[in-house]
This record gives sequence, C-alpha cells and structure tokens, in this order.
Amino acid sequence: MLATRDPILGFLPANLVLLLAIVVAVGLFARSAYHLYRLVRLGRPEQRTDHPAERWDAFLRHVLGQGRLLREPAAGLMHALIFWGFLVITVSTAEMLLGGLIPGLTFGPLTANPVYVLLLDLFEVLVLASVLFAFYRRLVVKPSRLSYTGDALLILGLIATLMLTALLANGLRIAYASEPLDPWAPASAALAGALGDLPAPTQLALHKLFWWAHVLTVLGFLAYLPHSKHLHIVTAPFNVWLRSLAPRGQLPYLDVEAALEQDQPLGASQIDHFTWKGLLDTYTCTECGRCQAACPASISGKPLSPKKLILDLKEHLLEEGPARLHGDGEAHPGKQMVGEVITDEVLWDCTTCRACMHECPVFIEHVPKIVDMRRHLVMAESRFEPEVQRLFDNLEASGNPWRLPRMVRGDWAKGLGIPTMAESPEIEYLYWVGCAGSHDERNMKVARAFARLMQQAGVKFAILATEETCTGDPARRAGHEYLFQTLAQQNVETLNRYGVKKVVTACPHCFNSLKNEYPQLGGTYEVIHHSQFLRELVEAGKLAPSKALEGAVAYHDPCYLGRYNEVYDQPRGVLEGIPGLELREVPGCHRDRAMCCGGGGARVFMEEQRGRRINHLRIEQAMAAQPRTIATACPFCIIMLEDGARAKGVYDDVPVADIAELLVRSCDKKS
Ligand code: HEM
Ligand code: SF4
Ligand code: SF4
Repeated sequence: MLATRDPILGFLPANLVLLLAIVVAVGLFARSAYHLYRLVRLGRPEQRTDHPAERWDAFLRHVLGQGRLLREPAAGLMHALIFWGFLVITVSTAEMLLGGLIPGLTFGPLTANPVYVLLLDLFEVLVLASVLFAFYRRLVVKPSRLSYTGDALLILGLIATLMLTALLANGLRIAYASEPLDPWAPASAALAGALGDLPAPTQLALHKLFWWAHVLTVLGFLAYLPHSKHLHIVTAPFNVWLRSLAPRGQLPYLDVEAALEQDQPLGASQIDHFTWKGLLDTYTCTECGRCQAACPASISGKPLSPKKLILDLKEHLLEEGPARLHGDGEAHPGKQMVGEVITDEVLWDCTTCRACMHECPVFIEHVPKIVDMRRHLVMAESRFEPEVQRLFDNLEASGNPWRLPRMVRGDWAKGLGIPTMAESPEIEYLYWVGCAGSHDERNMKVARAFARLMQQAGVKFAILATEETCTGDPARRAGHEYLFQTLAQQNVETLNRYGVKKVVTACPHCFNSLKNEYPQLGGTYEVIHHSQFLRELVEAGKLAPSKALEGAVAYHDPCYLGRYNEVYDQPRGVLEGIPGLELREVPGCHRDRAMCCGGGGARVFMEEQRGRRINHLRIEQAMAAQPRTIATACPFCIIMLEDGARAKGVYDDVPVADIAELLVRSCDKKS
C-alpha cells in the first residue's frame, strides 16, 4: 500500500505504527464496551430471543431498511444515506487497514468489482452531502426535538473528515500513480484530474497525509463511540432485533405475591430493577427527540419528556452502576432513581398513549419503564395524589371508579329486553359494557345505542350486569398491579364459569385488557371492538344505514384502539357507510399519529395540574378539520373531548359522539 510503503520519519516501519494505533483504539473501545456490557448485565433476566423470524423481519425493515427513520422523509433520507454509506465504506476501510498492515492484502474480487467501486465512490459523496445537510439542520433549521450538544457536532465533523480524506487520498493516489481514470469512480477521477498538475512528490506526501488522517480518524471514532450518543451505531441493530414481541397492549406481568414472599422489588425503584433489555434501551437513545415531539405531555408543556426520561436513566446507570457492580450500591446510596432522577410528576404525567414507542426508530420501550416506576410509587411507597387513592378505593369497594353501587351496574339496560348471562348462558356474544357504559350518564347513551344496533341486526347477546366489574385497566396503568390482578381474576372466573367465547365491547381499554392482558391470567377469548363488529354488520347487510345525516365529521382515534391494536379502518368504515356524512381527518394528527385525548393511563381520573390541558389541545387540532361533529369510539375519549369542547366553547355547535350513536340515528327509522 502506497501510504505505508515507506518508513515514517525514515526509520519507523509504517505498518508497525499502524498496528500500534489499531491496538490502542480497539483496546480502548473494548475496555469501554466491556464496562457497558457489565452494566447492562446488572438488569434482571428477560427472554428476548424467541421467534427469530419475526426479529429478522424487523431487522430487515427497520435497521437495513431504516423504516421508522424514513417516516420523516428529509431527516430519514439523510440518515439512511449515512447508514447505507457506512455499510459500503466499512468494507473499503477494513481493506485499507489490512492492506496497511500486510502489504498487498486486498479483498480482491469484492472491492475490485466495478459495481462496488461505483457504490463506494458514490456513497462517499452522498454521505458527505448528508453530513452537510445534518450540519445545516442543526445550525440553521434547529428543529426543537433535537438535543444541541457538542458531541453531535463532533461526530458530524468526524464523519465529514472521514469522507473528505478518503476521497482526497484516493484521488491523489490515482494522480500520483498516473492510473487511467476509472469511469466507475467518477468523484475520485474528477479529484485526480483536478490534482493532476501538482508535482509528484507533493501528490505522494498529500496522499500519505490524507490516508493517515483517514485511518486515524476511523480509529479515533471507534475509541470515542462508547462515550457518545453515537453508541447507537453499535447498539441500535441489537435493540431493534431484541424488541418486545408481546402484544403491544400487554404490560409485563408481575407476580406480586411471589415478589413479596421473596423480598423482591415491587416495580422499579433502582436502576437494576429494570431488565437488561430495559438498560440496553438507555444506551441506544440517539437523542432524536421524535418521542418527545409526539408526546402529549411534552406538547402540553408538562415536565415529562420521554427522551429526557431515557437519557436521565442512562446517566443514572453510568453513575450508579459501577458501585452496584462492586456490590456496594446499598452502602453508597446516590440519588434516588424514583423521586430525584425521575420525579413523581414526570411519572404521573404519562397518559400511556404509546406515541413515544410508536415513533422511536430504535424501538425503545418507554411505557413499561414508566409503569414499573409507578408500581414502585404505588405498591412500595404509597406515594400518589389523593385522587389516585380515591380511584383505588373506589375500584376495591365497588368495582368501578366512581364508587357507584354494584347493584346498579346493569340499570342502563332496564326496559331494553337485554338478557343477562345468568338468564341466557348459551348465548353467542357477551356484551362487555365496562364501567363508563354502565355508570356514566353520557356513556350509557352509547351503550343503549350499541345495544339497539345489535338488536336491530338480530345479534344474540347478553350482559353480565351486576356480575361485571372493572377490567382493572386504570389500576394496572396507574401502577397498582395487585388491584388489577384481583379485579381481572374475578372477571376471568366469571367469564370462564359461563364458558364465554366471544366478547364484544365499545370500550378500547376493556377491549385491550380482555384481548391482550387477560390471557396472562388464564382468560382467553375472541374479543371484538364495537367498531369492528358494527362494520361487519353493515357489510353483511344486517344493518342498513339509510337516513342521511348532515355534515363533516372528524374522527378521533383512541390510543388503545388505534396505536395499541391497529383498529383504524373499521370505525372510519362505519362513518363512511352513513349517508350524508363526510369523513374528515384531523390534519397531521390522525390514525397512528393521532394525539391522545389526555385520558389514558388512568389520567381521566386525575387532575391535570401542569401545563396546558391535553383535551383542549386535541379539540383545537380536531377543529382544524372544520367538522360539524367530532366522532370517536371510546367512552373516556368522549368524556375528555366533551370537557375540552365545553372549555373551548364549541360544545353546542360541534357535538362529540360515539360512532354507534351516529349509526343508530341513520339506521333507526323511529329517531
Ligand atoms: C454505521 C451506522 C450508523 C451511523 C454512521 C450513524 C450515524 C448517525 C449520525 C451521524 C446521526 C446524527 C444525525 C444528526 O446530526 O442529526 C445519527 C442519528 C440517528 N441515528 Fe444513526 N447511525 C448509524 C446506525 C444507525 C442505526 C442502525 C439506526 C437505527 C436502526 C440509527 C438510528 C438513528 C436515529 C434515530 C438518529 C436520529 C435521527 C433524527 O434526528 O431523526 N442509526 N446517526
Ligand atoms: S406514553 Fe404518551 S404520554 Fe407517556 S411518555 Fe409516551 S408519548 Fe408521552
Ligand atoms: S427514545 Fe427513541 S425517539 Fe426518543 S430520543 Fe431516544 S431514540 Fe429518539
């Protein structure tokens, strides 16, 4: 290799100098990487290698294909070009290092192949252009979601240096050796042409300079990586491959009694209470802020930023981890993770809407961490606002969040001729009404509308009435795993006693718990959301919406129906099937990117003390579609949106309705 042909300073064998530089850089990298690996091993065990086919599929789509990054076209393409460029260029870099160590060693047919030569040349220019764009984005455009650190600029500078030095070293080598200009390497050929007039000794000296600058930058980059957010280059592919394959709406099961018996933590109060994958997440954060830009708590000015939460946990792991590795974590207590590093306010601000996890290009799992820390607050510390206490007390005392008597749970159905399971145990469908449909005046109307539609369609269904109790969803999301399991077990016993197979419900929270979480407790059913059911009934001709309703309707996607369970088309289908209605999307925030109403994660039962109100913001977003009605398919969204509409003064002109209420008006000849 030309650059390492002659000794340095006339006596130092160049390949020995190179070897020394490689040993130092790889050694520094390996030492830091091993330290980080040991810190990750502090986490609790977790199985994440099942279903390899599904994992490789995600790897292909989201690592090699850069799928989630490309959701944002400009930033995504910028990154994809850098990433794909590195895949191509790394082969040539490895060849450079090997050839520098052992003269004459090359990868032969691979790197001599004209297609590879062209790709290498092209990507060196494209990576350089992408890095210039990244500089422009950071220094001029300045999107608010990014973190503005010296680290980010340093890495961009290093990558630009890598590309420039590679191109210049190559161009000067071609010029010096008077090689024929390769049409497959247009950029290097153009540089060689431009530098061809320099005296040969200068060409050689500059070639050596850029070659060494390139090689030393690569090695410096390697040694620096573990100390930078660019550690993601190494961890992101693993993090994507190791992502959770559990149903999206299923929180991890915690055996509370076993934990108490064995003196195990209830939730997470220390960094090593997370699993090893939870800790790997923290290393992988690229600080892109996509989670924060989608988070309703951050958007409404609350202290919670999902990005900051992950970065704070990383910093805490790096600070506290070493003491725990040496077993003296308890003896030298540093900052409290829950309360100091992550404040109680931050934890309670989360609506568990999953927007953060849906946006994160490297599949970081924020919600389970937040709920794990809430579990500690609730079950170990009993530290929460009085309204959360009230929620738990009410659920325990009467099986609903409002402490209404259990005996009135079926009263909404009085006079409608709906049998109970006790009366008709053989019936095909169980209509799971949920607490809101059973007890909240506004949502009782939805329950009646849906029941009426099922009756019109000739569906044979029954309700549990007084035998139904809250699914436990708000308790689980608020961190009271024990209460969730108590309520859920009670329901599973009831459902299994009746041999229930098919459950239909109008509440996405009940739908999600029954479908995705009850199997953890031995309850497995076919669970159908009313939007799916109604759409099927209309398609099958069992319901015939014929009366025209007027005006534009904006549909609000409930998080637990949309992002958690991917039910987007059916509620829209129901609305589109109603003559006269014009379905409009909430501009920029619909389907998987819809913003939460503010009510998820038990927040509907809590005061919103910080920042702007999320439901007010959501109404403002919906009003941008200029609707006559705002439709949704979730009782808690109805409560939150109606409250928001009242506050924004649009309640009388733009009513909020469930899709069943609109459909029944179109189907019902009498109304
Ligand atoms: C050789 C591999 C890689 C290189 C050289 C690389 C390089 C970079 C650079 C330079 C940035 C900063 C861009 C800026 O200033 O905003 C960045 C950001 C980022 N990287 Fe990578 N990366 C690599 C691999 C990956 C992989 C495999 C993933 C995910 C699967 C990933 C995900 C991200 C994300 C999400 C960002 C933030 C982008 C944004 O602001 O929207 N990177 N990466
Ligand atoms: S789940 Fe929603 S509210 Fe909670 S951190 Fe993520 S985006 Fe924010
Ligand atoms: S958690 Fe994910 S989305 Fe959020 S800043 Fe980190 S990498 Fe980006």
